[in-house]
Amino acid sequence: MSAPNSSYDPVEVAALQPDALAAAIEAATAAFAAAADLEALKAARLAHLDKGAVAAARREIGALPPSAKAEAGKRVGAAMDAVRTAYEAREAHLQEQAAERILVEERVDVTVPTGRRPVGARHPVELTQERLMDIFVAQGWEVAEGPEVESEWMNFDALNLGKDHPARQMQDTFFVDPPDGGLVLRTQTSPIQIRTMLTRTPPIYVVAPGKVFRTDDLDATHTPVFHQIELLAVDKGLTMAHLRGSIDHFVRAMFGDVRTRVRASYFPFTEPSMETDFECFACLGAEAAVRGDCRTCGGSGWIELGGSGMVNRKVFTACGIDPDVYTGFAFGFGIERALQLRNGVGDMRDIVEGDVRFSGQFGMAV
Ligand code: DAH
Repeated sequence: MSAPNSSYDPVEVAALQPDALAAAIEAATAAFAAAADLEALKAARLAHLDKGAVAAARREIGALPPSAKAEAGKRVGAAMDAVRTAYEAREAHLQEQAAERILVEERVDVTVPTGRRPVGARHPVELTQERLMDIFVAQGWEVAEGPEVESEWMNFDALNLGKDHPARQMQDTFFVDPPDGGLVLRTQTSPIQIRTMLTRTPPIYVVAPGKVFRTDDLDATHTPVFHQIELLAVDKGLTMAHLRGSIDHFVRAMFGDVRTRVRASYFPFTEPSMETDFECFACLGAEAAVRGDCRTCGGSGWIELGGSGMVNRKVFTACGIDPDVYTGFAFGFGIERALQLRNGVGDMRDIVEGDVRFSGQFGMAV
């Protein structure tokens, strides 16, 4: 075994020369500076930090005599630190640049119009129906429903429209096959009154919306399928004053601060019966000359709303309610008509056809 080489002169190892180390630092720094992106910097790191001249110099230290190791180690360590510092500075700079580029390149302009199309719009009849119901539900009335295919008994007989009652012909009925099977497409929402009174006990306050059917042709003012809303109140001591108060409240909520008037009328299921008109909200307060041309009310100043009256004793009896104990009032009107009036829809066909461009105008696109 040979003795340690005490005469070894560290300066003779070329890689450990201060000049060589300085050149290595310079070369590494230049290579890092030349790296245009993090990928290139990684390659430069491999060449100048993980491997390369300084790493080679470090390996040489092992072969030095102990007396020379400390000094050489310090020099190489300082060179290593200098290269690492240069690397880290460049890496930080390139990372910052990359982050900035991502911010610019991947920016999303949220104001650019998209190709997304609205799926549709809620139908204005539905919305009007909801608005009408809300007015009553807010006062504590309950919502009631009934089937569209209805028994003749519910639709006519129980409502005091007997087989040969002229009013039965007034409404042109769709009969469900077989024609003598006793089923019809309901011609009015009034049978919901019957269903309600058969299943609930007074006090009853219900609002009942629904589709009704009559054999009319579709034109600007008629449709074979339309919607009505029915109101029924049964309680002790109800009078026509309560009926008028309910109508007044409803008309104001729907059409604004207008007056109502009633005219005597006839419905088999109410006695007495009346028609209700309300003041035309479109020409109210206008000069007489302007009023004469009003397209909403035809110049009369009044708009017909619907039928109503005090529940006929015979209807109570058919439903098992004692007419000597209870009184009640009922009220029914068309939703399409309310929509036409309130929103100025001239042609019934627009309501029926379901074109989303029409429905979308009523403010509830989905
Ligand atoms: N059912 C009637 C119709 O379709 C409307 C009606 C009138 C309903 C008077 C009522 C009422 O509840 O009391 O013409």
